[in-house]
Amino acid sequence: MLASVAAVPQASSQAPEARGAARTAVAQTPPMGWNSWNYFHRNVTEQDVKAAADALVSTGMKDAGYIYVNIDDTWQGERNADGVLSANSKFPDMKGLADYVHSKGLKLGIYSGPGPKTCAGYAGSYGHEQQDADLYASWGVDYLKYDLCSYIGIMQKQAPNDKPAQMRMMVAAYAKMDKALKATGRPIVYSLCQYGWDAVWEWAPSVGGNLWRTTGDIQPNWDRVYAILEQQAGLEKYAGPGHWNDPDMLEVGNGKLTEAENRSHFSMWAMLAAPLLAGNDLAHMSPEVLRILTNRDVIAIDQDRLGRQATRAYADGEVEVWTRHLEHGALAVAVLNAGSDRYATHPFRLNLSRLGLHGPQKAKDLWSGREVTLTNNEPIELAHHDILLVRIPQPK
Ligand code: GAL
Repeated sequence: MLASVAAVPQASSQAPEARGAARTAVAQTPPMGWNSWNYFHRNVTEQDVKAAADALVSTGMKDAGYIYVNIDDTWQGERNADGVLSANSKFPDMKGLADYVHSKGLKLGIYSGPGPKTCAGYAGSYGHEQQDADLYASWGVDYLKYDLCSYIGIMQKQAPNDKPAQMRMMVAAYAKMDKALKATGRPIVYSLCQYGWDAVWEWAPSVGGNLWRTTGDIQPNWDRVYAILEQQAGLEKYAGPGHWNDPDMLEVGNGKLTEAENRSHFSMWAMLAAPLLAGNDLAHMSPEVLRILTNRDVIAIDQDRLGRQATRAYADGEVEVWTRHLEHGALAVAVLNAGSDRYATHPFRLNLSRLGLHGPQKAKDLWSGREVTLTNNEPIELAHHDILLVRIPQPK
């Protein structure tokens, strides 16, 4: 399955071999960076994007692996008589902005969609796919998030009451932009955003998708973060180098998430081999949020080169145990207290044999940094929505 998936970009490309190779080389580990939407929404400006780039460098996030600076919806202006799109007045000099981001050793991402309008009502790429891809490449864009939105209306109009035909149109629309991006010859990460419809994980790699959203939008509250997490179980077989499930951008540091919830959200996204796109205001984050986002041990789980997404091993009441196989035979284990009772600490016993482990296991607790030894039926007490995340270098 995965072997044929990996072969598809060359098969579908009419561009020269070298271009296909350039495209398949991106996103060998899940993309890391920042995206404007979760905090700034429609209000994002060039200044905010520059400030985010500056903060990635000054806080050490860049050194920890956060490279993409992604502008989401609302940057677009009007098309001229030839159909060439400009950015709006919030982004007076897109090429200059790209140069600025690149001068910091970072990469620039942008947003569009296959419909005439984006979700926020700005110009989409419908009928202008190649023109837009060429424009992005001329600016030096390195990443495109392509959001279905108003193309849904076109699907419904052209194939009324015919869901399968609508889905075929959707796949073709994503393939069209893939071809346009490839024709530019520039390596551009291609991020599909169509909310997980039509089992996107089964076909996204065949249209060049490096990542694809698996659900509707995330929100900065635990119930939504957890609901998305639950929808990832079973999708692990579709993830691997160059093609990732995307449970949406991080909300760490946003809304009312508690410290434990931020930690659990970040840990589980790392277990899921999810893109780690920070979605908070990097220029004004607390030391605690920065500490979570830059935990190198947790990032190393996310970026493990095997690219194997975690599996939910078992659940016991409201405590869940997830495992992820890592390079060199190592294993990551996450124990999450998803319980709704704020005061219950859920004394829980970790059943190692259910994880295929036998006898005491030497491990590193990735949040305390301590070396620990886990024994079978180890009692583990976790506060509300908190997590134990360990790496077992030599599981037995
Ligand atoms: C949604 C998308 C969000 C954000 C928003 C912008 O469809 O899921 O992540 O991009 O559009 O309008």
